[in-house]
Amino acid sequence: MPTTLTPAELIREPPLVHADGFGAPTTYQLATRVLEYLATVVQAGDATLETGEGVSTILCAMLGARHTCVTPNGDAVGRIRAYCDSHHISLDHVTFAMGLSEEVLPTLGDAPLDLVVIDGSHSLPATFIDWYYAGRRLRVGGLVVVDDVQLWPCALLAEFLESEPMWREVFSEPGRTRVFERTQPGELIRHWQLQPLVVAETERRSHPMSRTLGTKAGNAWRLLRARRYSTILEKVRKNLQGR
Ligand SMILES: C[S@@+](CC[C@H](N)C(=O)[O-])C[C@H]1O[C@@H](n2cnc3c(N)ncnc32)[C@H](O)[C@@H]1O
Repeated sequence: MPTTLTPAELIREPPLVHADGFGAPTTYQLATRVLEYLATVVQAGDATLETGEGVSTILCAMLGARHTCVTPNGDAVGRIRAYCDSHHISLDHVTFAMGLSEEVLPTLGDAPLDLVVIDGSHSLPATFIDWYYAGRRLRVGGLVVVDDVQLWPCALLAEFLESEPMWREVFSEPGRTRVFERTQPGELIRHWQLQPLVVAETERRSHPMSRTLGTKAGNAWRLLRARRYSTILEKVRKNLQGR
């Protein structure tokens, strides 16, 4: 018997498949708007992959994706299986690849993907390892969801993608999640001198005033030394206008 539950109902009343620090049931799911966004972009038959497990896994199963969930969390997977079982949600097209994503992803081959959700470890460098091994499999037009950009490793990844011509931001839940579309084929990692964020950040850090005063003051100091008074005035004007 196929499920009668709709994605909207799942999102409205999600199961508590995670456990907090005391072992109590909870959910660390993607933000509601992000789950709703996934429900609009994931098509039946799409090849999808996520690091971490949870409501997003159940949603991808319901949407009929050929989904890979990479997680070390056997307890949460047990709760996902039990929920899907009791709601007649088929897991026939879901593969649970058990283990840490940084160890498992390099072993999963290179079959093309339509969508990747990075929501597992949130640490450095695992967040970038996830992006590299899953993101290189994304077809042009495929999406990468970077969750928890309130955490610095995830924010840094999103900032890097924003600065690279291969990626285009297509959706965001401010302070929480950013979604990028792959716009070009080719290698994900370029020589550092071709990476605008690396060049800009290296330049900023190499300047003593930036180190002492912080980014904004350092930039202002550099502009002053270069006598770029009109640029300074323009930046002050924009700051006063709150832009
Ligand atoms: C924020 S939750 C995922 C939430 C899920 N996307 C949802 O919508 O419910 C993050 C999960 O990542 C898993 N995790 C932690 N470290 C990981 C790693 N190195 N690789 C894969 N998953 C990991 C944990 O089991 C944790 O429950």
